[in-house]
Amino acid sequence: MITDNKTPYRLISDEGLKKLRAREDELFAKRTKKSKDTFDKAQEMLLNGVPMPWMGDWGTSYPIFVNKASGNIVEDIDGNEYIDFCLGDTGAMFGHSPEATAEIVAKQVKQGITTMMPSIDSLEIGKELSKRFGLPLWQVAMTATEANRYVIRNCRALTGRPKVLSINESYHGSLDETLPHIGLDGKLKLRSEYDMNPAVPKEALSRVVEFNDIEALENELSYKDCACVLIEPVMTNCGMVLPEPGYHEKLRELCDKYGTYLIYDETHTFSNGYGGYTKAYGLKPDFITLGKSIAGGIPVSVYGFTKEIGDRINETYGHKSVSDPMGIGGTLSANAFAIAAMRETLQKVATEEAFEKMFTGQNRLSDGLEKILYKYNIPWSLTRSGARCELQFMPNAPKTGSEAKKYFDWELMYYLHIYLENRGILITPFHNMMLISPVTTDEDIDYLIKGWKDCLTELVEIGK
Ligand SMILES: Cc1ncc(COP(=O)(O)O)c(C=O)c1O
Repeated sequence: MITDNKTPYRLISDEGLKKLRAREDELFAKRTKKSKDTFDKAQEMLLNGVPMPWMGDWGTSYPIFVNKASGNIVEDIDGNEYIDFCLGDTGAMFGHSPEATAEIVAKQVKQGITTMMPSIDSLEIGKELSKRFGLPLWQVAMTATEANRYVIRNCRALTGRPKVLSINESYHGSLDETLPHIGLDGKLKLRSEYDMNPAVPKEALSRVVEFNDIEALENELSYKDCACVLIEPVMTNCGMVLPEPGYHEKLRELCDKYGTYLIYDETHTFSNGYGGYTKAYGLKPDFITLGKSIAGGIPVSVYGFTKEIGDRINETYGHKSVSDPMGIGGTLSANAFAIAAMRETLQKVATEEAFEKMFTGQNRLSDGLEKILYKYNIPWSLTRSGARCELQFMPNAPKTGSEAKKYFDWELMYYLHIYLENRGILITPFHNMMLISPVTTDEDIDYLIKGWKDCLTELVEIGK
């Protein structure tokens, strides 16, 4: 959610914030000399000094280069240690290199990485995913983006409809269909900060509505040209936005009414429980997609669907030749290495007990942060969801992506992030999301609460 907005609830003047930022930049430069040198050298061979665009977007003038990450601790090449509440934006939700995953990966890597043949572990993951998410049939891809792409392809093929309906300010990977957003005039934006590509015919591919807006949803679906709705159960990429009571039930009803498939993207909301938000809240999807954390960070993703959909795929395209007419494959997908990592992670790492620890930790953190907001009269809100929580620069939690965006403040946010980073804490870039892993200790959480308290009380004091 890139924006020039400034929240009206900044706590401090622009001038005051600039001074503090200069102090933190200086401190950062002293602590991270090797990262700076490496970043400068990298300009010669990597676009903007990083191998992937997001890596340059931590809000510091250059990223820290990582030496190693283990459990919930990251060490940079200057030898600084950080308690990690970003956890690879959920890719490392269960901690970096969980022991069971690391062990099976070390073993499997010597027994064949990829063969384009199924391994027996794939039955186990099918069983495990069905038990958790309630959908009977599963397929494997490489990334969450790719799982979403394949599901969209299926939905289009089965309905003969071209469009995908997504939610304003949501993110499901770099899919042309779901990158468009709504402009201030309420219309589809043909070029936006997320999608500068003028060559994509967005009007032909996309419909976009606000989260929690049932009326708009019905209006858009009533054109009967949407193959599917692709949605997160909780919005997690524009701050966090929770569904209003009854929203998901109504969504299901409308998808049925207008013959549109309903896809829940559980890539982030897997942090809501053993069977994601779907199991925790009894959702009834046609498809589920998820990736990132399911194999402890080893690249692999999955998508699940109903028996009726499986039958329709076979009826429409002919049993055993599903992949060709649908254009779905992926040479490396479902390789033995990734499947072994997923089985071990699901069975030994992402356990019910692990989720319980994560929720308890999140409540400790959220209680601590809410106490600070209350005690120092800071008009910001905290949103809790599963193992994650999010601090937003507005007095009441947002109901839509547009509302979240309106109060966003890139400059303020990145000041907060560099302040915490200089004190050995990482939180998710792009917003103020904090994620608790099963290996995060109470001491780690209390240290983060103290970091926020010191940072915010200084802002309040200077802003008086
Ligand atoms: C909800 C959601 N779905 C899908 C994706 C895409 O994941 P990946 O980049 O691993 O393909 C993301 C990435 O942040 C996401 O937040």
